[in-house]
Amino acid sequence: MRFFSSLISLLAVALVATTAVVAQSAHIGAPADMAEVAGSFTAMIEVPDSLTSVTEVALVIALLSCASASCPGPSEELGTVLYDGPFSPVFTTEPGTTTLPPHQNFTLTVPESFAAGPAQLGVAHFSLIGASVVPFFETLNTTIVIT
Ligand SMILES: *[C@@H]1O[C@H](CO)[C@@H](O)[C@H](O)[C@H]1NC(C)=O
Ligand SMILES: *[C@@H]1O[C@H](CO)[C@@H](O)[C@H](O)[C@H]1NC(C)=O
Repeated sequence: MRFFSSLISLLAVALVATTAVVAQSAHIGAPADMAEVAGSFTAMIEVPDSLTSVTEVALVIALLSCASASCPGPSEELGTVLYDGPFSPVFTTEPGTTTLPPHQNFTLTVPESFAAGPAQLGVAHFSLIGASVVPFFETLNTTIVIT
């Protein structure tokens, strides 16, 4: 009986932790998948509006050409780092866009010598979740087309 109740509380803790972690997952709001990009572009990285306390630690945004080989996915290779630093998602106050989730916009520049064609826009995101400070790490990606 004791074993079962501790098992159940263990499962409950695991479930709460998992739910909290899933609920913190960031999203690439822009550029859209397969968007054509030339020169500079804005990457909008969004997080859910959450009741759990979250401390954002770091964000990396990188670009990898997939013109001559298939993209390996961001957990395998990030490529050229375009941004590496703090992440401070906030609500926008711009009229008409206040329904956007907390986010940060990054103005990024495609390196001049970068190959035209499809490229993996990879994101690595690290944060600390909740009062028990659960480390959370994820990678995200989308594909853009360099013109
Ligand atoms: C981010 O960019 C979007 C689209 O241009 C804009 O609506 C929003 O206000 C910007 N957010 C912030 C925090 O500046
Ligand atoms: C992210 O990368 C994976 C692995 O290369 C790929 O299967 C998936 O289609 C990519 N997602 C997007 C939105 O490009």
